Order: sequence, then C-alpha cells, then structure tokens
Amino acid sequence: MFDLDQFIADLRSSLAERSRKAMKDMVARAVSDPASLYRRIGEPNKPGAQVLHHAPDLTVINVAWAPQQITLPHNHLLAAVIGMYSGREDNLFWRRVPNPEKYQIEAAGGRALGAGDVTILGDEVIHSVVNPLAKISGAIHVYAGDFFAVERSMWDPESLAEAPYDLNAVAKGMQVEGRP
Ligand SMILES: [Fe+2]
Repeated sequence: MFDLDQFIADLRSSLAERSRKAMKDMVARAVSDPASLYRRIGEPNKPGAQVLHHAPDLTVINVAWAPQQITLPHNHLLAAVIGMYSGREDNLFWRRVPNPEKYQIEAAGGRALGAGDVTILGDEVIHSVVNPLAKISGAIHVYAGDFFAVERSMWDPESLAEAPYDLNAVAKGMQVEGRP
C-alpha cells in the first residue's frame, strides 16, 4: 500500500537536497500505482481537494478536479510538482507582458497531462487548468512551501488583469478538506 508518511519523508529529503528531479521521481512513483494510492487516500468520487500534508516548507494536496472544471490563470510563487493518477489535466501556461498595452499576460504554451504524467512547475509559472473530461480527474500536487500562506495572484479571464488570489474564484466550487 502507498505509505503516506514515507512519501512525505522522502519529499522532505528531496527538499533538503534541493532536488526537484528527485521530487518529480517520487511523485511519479506514487501516481504510477493508483490502486495502491486509493487504498491510502481513497478513490476520488467527488470534486474537491484534500490536504495530505501542510508545513511552512511543504504542502501536499490531493486534487480531484470536477468534470470539465476550468480554473482562472493563477500563480503559486512556489515550485511545484504535479502528478496525475487518473483522468487528465490540461495546463495552459501564461507569461507576463513586459509593457502591456492591453493584456497583462499572454498565452505561452501548454502541456496536457494524463494519468501517470508528472511535471515540474517553476515558482514563476502562471497557469490555468482544464479537466477536459466528463469525469473527475485526480492529481497529487506538491508545493515547496506553504500553499495557503503565499500572497499570490490570479488573472481575470476576460480582461486578463491581475488581482489577489482567491481560491473560490480560481477554482469555482472547490472544497478543501483539511485546510489550515
Ligand atoms: Fe495551480
């Protein structure tokens, strides 16, 4: 069975070594065996997020995206590793426009993540996320810091203007279990 305590301990060792690659490998291992993962954290049967670990230097969240959920563009200001264990999460990446005449950000590529896929996000990344499926998609999100304490931004989907981050606006309807 997936050992959550060991997983957290392993992630902590990768933090100490400052190795994002090691962190990515750990997440890849965890999501490679969903059946084992489900025995410890449950199979996602409703949309929402479940905080698996929360500390000033490390936050681990189990995210169950609602069918066809879409988020606003947002940043984390923390390095992150995203590992999908079921379904799909399509990332649209954005970058700041240096001297904006109209929009403060512009689209800058994308990455479609399916079950078993893992990606590292740098701390400057701005992304929006789509679950394109008619079913729940599940992912483990690991952040190298305190996900809930960092003051960060979201961008209005129409004007693309920057605003303070508000989880309820970024991911509409997302209930967070175990939130500090
Ligand atoms: Fe995000």
